[in-house]
Amino acid sequence: MNKVALVTGGSKGLGKAIALTLGEQGNKVIVNFNRNAEKAKLVIDDGGEAVAIQADITQEDEVKRLASEAENLFQEPITILVNNATGPQPELSLQDVSWEDYLDQLHFTVKAPLLLTKELMGGMQSKKWGRIINIGSEVVELGNPHFSNYVTAKSSVIGMTRSWANELGGYGITVNTVHPGFIPVERHGEVTEESAKGYVQHVPLKKLGKPKDIANTVGFLCSDEAEFITGQNINVNGGNTFGV
Ligand SMILES: NC(=O)c1ccc[n+]([C@@H]2O[C@H](COP(=O)([O-])OP(=O)(O)OC[C@H]3O[C@@H](n4cnc5c(N)ncnc54)[C@H](OP(=O)(O)O)[C@@H]3O)[C@@H](O)[C@H]2O)c1
Repeated sequence: MNKVALVTGGSKGLGKAIALTLGEQGNKVIVNFNRNAEKAKLVIDDGGEAVAIQADITQEDEVKRLASEAENLFQEPITILVNNATGPQPELSLQDVSWEDYLDQLHFTVKAPLLLTKELMGGMQSKKWGRIINIGSEVVELGNPHFSNYVTAKSSVIGMTRSWANELGGYGITVNTVHPGFIPVERHGEVTEESAKGYVQHVPLKKLGKPKDIANTVGFLCSDEAEFITGQNINVNGGNTFGV
């Protein structure tokens, strides 16, 4: 595809798989990370034409620096943006949760995607081509208790995606959200089908998903073949939920 793609939080977990897949598709990939330079380096060592750029994407000045470093390196606009990064996701009862706990999540699900999109959309508009993929979560349909900070923040991504899709569609820019189910990554430690059977038994496909399942879906949505898909919520969770 030979586009310039930015994956936020690409140093590990789902972001790493997404960055590697976009690289396999022939894109130049910016692997953004905040703290884990070593892990980000491993991703670019494995990838094609890739660079790692540190930036806390919840901070406006760091987003601007990230965009200008990327532009200097590649001399062309970033036209694929994957809003994937996440911070800690504490489970908190309604009694214990605070407004600050909600804001902590909204900084990742709304603030960072907004800052990045405002920074990058001019380049996409000039190319009359762009792909913005937000990473949501199946929790927006499950409404998990003791997790309203995260569930609320991920739910707001749905309206944001639809509004942006309407606003940017005329420029050939699509905006979609991919909602993963529970996909074990490094931070979950050792997870087996057996240890996760309480979850798996409700999943129609009776197994856990892999980071590559999410990456393949993102890769497709970033391709030219997906040019007529925008404003959508795509659940990648073995059928655990059926759609909002
Ligand atoms: N895994 C699942 O089961 C699952 C299910 C549903 C939805 N999701 C969603 O999928 C996405 C990825 O989740 P994950 O499980 O792969 O998470 P993860 O393994 O914890 O990875 C998070 C990534 O975000 C980066 N990051 C953290 N703070 C950052 C900041 N301020 N600025 C830039 N990057 C930052 C981390 O980089 P550093 O370590 O370098 O700081 C890391 O690369 C998230 O949006 C999550 O909500 C995941």
